[in-house]
Amino acid sequence: MLKRCWLWLGHLLGKLTVLLLIVGLGGWGIGSIYYAWKFSGPVSNEEQIPPGEAALTQGIIEDAIRIVEQHRDNTRVLRDAHAKAHGCVKAEFTVLAELDPALRQGVFSEPGKTWQAWMRLSNGNAYPQFDRARDARGMAIKLLDVPGAKLMASKGTASDQDFVMFNHSSFFVRDVAEYKSNFAAQASGKKVLAFFPNWDPRSWELRHLIIALKTLAPAPESPVATTYSSIAPFKLGPNNIKYRVIPAAENCPNYELPKQNHDLPNFLRNALYQQLSLDRVPACFALQVQRQNPKHYMPIEDTSVEWDESLAPFETVATIKLPAQDFDSTEQNLFCDNLSFNPWHSLPEHRPIGGINRLRKAVYEAVSVYRHERNGSD
Ligand code: HEM
Repeated sequence: MLKRCWLWLGHLLGKLTVLLLIVGLGGWGIGSIYYAWKFSGPVSNEEQIPPGEAALTQGIIEDAIRIVEQHRDNTRVLRDAHAKAHGCVKAEFTVLAELDPALRQGVFSEPGKTWQAWMRLSNGNAYPQFDRARDARGMAIKLLDVPGAKLMASKGTASDQDFVMFNHSSFFVRDVAEYKSNFAAQASGKKVLAFFPNWDPRSWELRHLIIALKTLAPAPESPVATTYSSIAPFKLGPNNIKYRVIPAAENCPNYELPKQNHDLPNFLRNALYQQLSLDRVPACFALQVQRQNPKHYMPIEDTSVEWDESLAPFETVATIKLPAQDFDSTEQNLFCDNLSFNPWHSLPEHRPIGGINRLRKAVYEAVSVYRHERNGSD
């Protein structure tokens, strides 16, 4: 009797497994067909600004300032995002000598030109936490003494050209409207429900939830050992592009970072310090751009969609070197905290485009002004 029961149970479990497999494969197949249909080109190569975006942006600024105040670090007001820095380091940014003439725009105009720069490496979270916590990691670059009028210049930034990235290739929301509703839900504690706003399956954003979960990834071994992407699109002269910074160890002396203790809260800062300050070995990167091909699904107004690399390959336009250096001093860390990076600190040739970038224009400036005023550092 017992044996028959076990056999029956085994049979049932077998059937259930097959059923789950069929449902899973079917769902995956239907999902693939749906996205192949939904994500097919051509797309516009112009910005398309939806009505009501400006009003939503104003609400988002107010939310951001509230968060900054909530996360106040005893005495200092930190950034609303990427609050914890691993360090601000000096960088040399050299434009390739050989470049497609169509890419010779803005700061890439002069072959072989080396720009001096600051690079701030950070964790993405709104308040400082242990580096082992899953998170996005940020890289912000500020080229110095760049001549020419900028799209936006606050005090002390008129000669800056900034590049602002984090280490994932797509964003967890498509546009300003979704950012507003997702942010509001997350602020009221509904982390996952933010992606399922109501019972109507058409409002569900499972794909965006997956992007958010993937973005919150374990830390790399070092902040110089991961790829950082612009995610949002930009102009490069007449081209629409996305950019990224990849490690380029081949341009630097051979170096193997000793294993870091991941139980220490700031092991990413330690890794940077070990390489640049103790072992005195430089770190190297390449800056690459990807040109939009509007015949395919490479939208400007949807940051949740990665532009397909097989259709729009990345092309190296500059190399970046972090020379061996001492960076971890009280003065330099304070200086770093007081810097403001903003994708709109930019020559018109590198103009940010798309809804998420339009949103960033107002929010970064407002948060930066606010924290500088509150910290008495302007
Ligand atoms: C393409 C998507 C985005 C990327 C790649 C990105 C990346 C970054 C990075 C790396 C930083 C730190 C810059 C530094 O080191 O000082 C930063 C700061 C910041 N981000 Fe973003 N971000 C994105 C979208 C957004 C959005 C949609 C918002 C909100 C509307 C936002 C709000 C902020 C704010 C308020 C700061 C701090 C600005 C300051 O106080 O100086 N970001 N972001």
